[in-house]
Amino acid sequence: MVRLEGVAKHYPPDIVALQDLNLAIAKGEFVFLTGPSGAGKSTLLKLLFCAERPTQGEIFVDGIPLASLSASQVPHLRRKIGVVFQDFKLLTNRRVFDNVALSLEVTGLKRDQVERRVRQILDSVGLGGRIGQLPHQLSGGEQQRVAIARAVVNRPPILLADEPTGNLDRARTDEVMALMEELNAQGTTILFATHNERLYRHTHRRVLRLVDGRVEE
Ligand SMILES: Nc1ncnc2c1ncn2[C@@H]1O[C@H](COP(=O)(O)OP(=O)(O)OP(=O)(O)O)[C@@H](O)[C@H]1O
Ligand SMILES: [Mg+2]
Repeated sequence: MVRLEGVAKHYPPDIVALQDLNLAIAKGEFVFLTGPSGAGKSTLLKLLFCAERPTQGEIFVDGIPLASLSASQVPHLRRKIGVVFQDFKLLTNRRVFDNVALSLEVTGLKRDQVERRVRQILDSVGLGGRIGQLPHQLSGGEQQRVAIARAVVNRPPILLADEPTGNLDRARTDEVMALMEELNAQGTTILFATHNERLYRHTHRRVLRLVDGRVEE
């Protein structure tokens, strides 16, 4: 589902964020991405949804080679990928409904289909009753569940999560993890970056550890 071949990422003037990365993630895997601050975790995720371009190497996402992808093809790629961030990145002046609906409206679905899908996904994350509220009326964990609902409402095969529980307490973290497990059980391939050792210490999942831009598996 995701393959990296000899990937390097340099930031000017002289920062080597990733070097000679070779990696394959199969469809349906749930992979943790860990490693110290500055190791390149966020950079790796950004390369996968074309928020950054590799300096060297080739990346395939669901068969799409990213190096030669033109700017006009990026939206097509992003339809395959849901992304969740540590700071949620919800639109603060839009209701929960609109936050989730926006990523569906760009796909050209009819209004009643959008409405049905949004209600369905919000119910599935336990927020069906909060559909008309603004983000600031929700707890951090609830806001993150809205962000996850937004990321997966158009059923992308891949979910990238960058420290999605970094701002949450333990109970909220566990809720988010349960939701991730459920999405994975439904077939979503997940790449989950985190510092939080508790989340992967006892896991049977694959753990990729980045150190100085290289993988130690
Ligand atoms: N836009 C940028 N311009 C220049 N340097 C950058 C940029 N983004 C990241 N870096 C540098 O690249 C390296 C890797 O950063 P990255 O954000 O990928 O690390 P990380 O593993 O996600 O760290 P953290 O755990 O703190 O989130 C760091 O040295 C960082 O300072
Ligand atoms: Mg990071």
